[in-house]
Amino acid sequence: MLNEREIESCYLGQFIPVHYHHNMLMDHNRMHSFKSAIFHAVKPGAKVLELGGGTGVLSFFAAQQADKVYCVEFNPDMVREARRFLAMNENGHKVEVVHADAFDYLPPEPVDIVICEMIHVGMLREKQVEVIEAFKRRYLARFGGPLPVFLPEAVIMAVQPLQAEYDFEGFHAPIIQFQPTNVVYPGTVELAQPGVYSILDFSQPVDSLIAWEGQFLVEKAGSLNALRFITKNVLSIIEERGTTIDWLNHYMTLPLARAIEVQPGDIVQVSFAYRAGGSIPSLEASIRTEVVAKYEEQVAQRAAEAVFA
Ligand SMILES: C[S@@+](CC[C@H](N)C(=O)[O-])C[C@H]1O[C@@H](n2cnc3c(N)ncnc32)[C@H](O)[C@@H]1O
Repeated sequence: MLNEREIESCYLGQFIPVHYHHNMLMDHNRMHSFKSAIFHAVKPGAKVLELGGGTGVLSFFAAQQADKVYCVEFNPDMVREARRFLAMNENGHKVEVVHADAFDYLPPEPVDIVICEMIHVGMLREKQVEVIEAFKRRYLARFGGPLPVFLPEAVIMAVQPLQAEYDFEGFHAPIIQFQPTNVVYPGTVELAQPGVYSILDFSQPVDSLIAWEGQFLVEKAGSLNALRFITKNVLSIIEERGTTIDWLNHYMTLPLARAIEVQPGDIVQVSFAYRAGGSIPSLEASIRTEVVAKYEEQVAQRAAEAVFA
């Protein structure tokens, strides 16, 4: 019998079935970025906690250097699978797979690094922010400071106005799309440069309300009918080299309720608000877009100002 949180989890996507974990293991971009970041961040002898361990793969990476890894997972099928896989892999014995809810769990000792990958585009649906914020409060109350380093350390989110293609063999369907970031889609026109709308730094308190209003200078003519959401996870900051190890989520493109025709030089205003961990429809319902300055009107106004100057 599922409790209330588990029912919500099934609906919102926290409860990821075993067969989906194969896709995550096959995602080279995700795997390679996490492996590099974990190898950089976890020093020999470290104590590590992973919240939401799935197959245990990220805990396995950590165990190559760490003395001890606590790997917390609430899906009983995944707990079984993680234990089975870790027993087949080098240093797997250093990983203790704990069947618990990441919202409640605290390790029996302080840890140096907390790995948490409950990440969806825009920090929607999955509970990364809530889980980490709740963990920080419990951890400080039990062990005092300093807090462990979180991996990812930060998340940078941006939005970009698009003309998207919604014709499928003659069938018109303006539908949400998830797209790999390294593929060029014919029919997609990037109407303006992306604008950063939020930066979450997990070493600081993180507010779950993400609300933004900003303007874009249109660079190409087209029909503004969609917004692309871009999420870059800063997995690890390498201070000595002044660089970062990042992981870019798939782009999420949301169709707009109403398309707007735009020209280069127009200024478009976009606003939205949602809660980290909230649903995609809650974001969709909050989106507002309007052209606040048409290029020809700006030119005419400047000409008039020049005449009267
Ligand atoms: C996106 S998967 C990542 C799994 C793994 N870290 C990896 O990289 O393959 C998130 C995992 O978190 C687990 N999870 C979600 N909410 C949880 C919670 N409240 N407590 C413990 N595990 C949770 C899910 O069952 C899932 O296995």
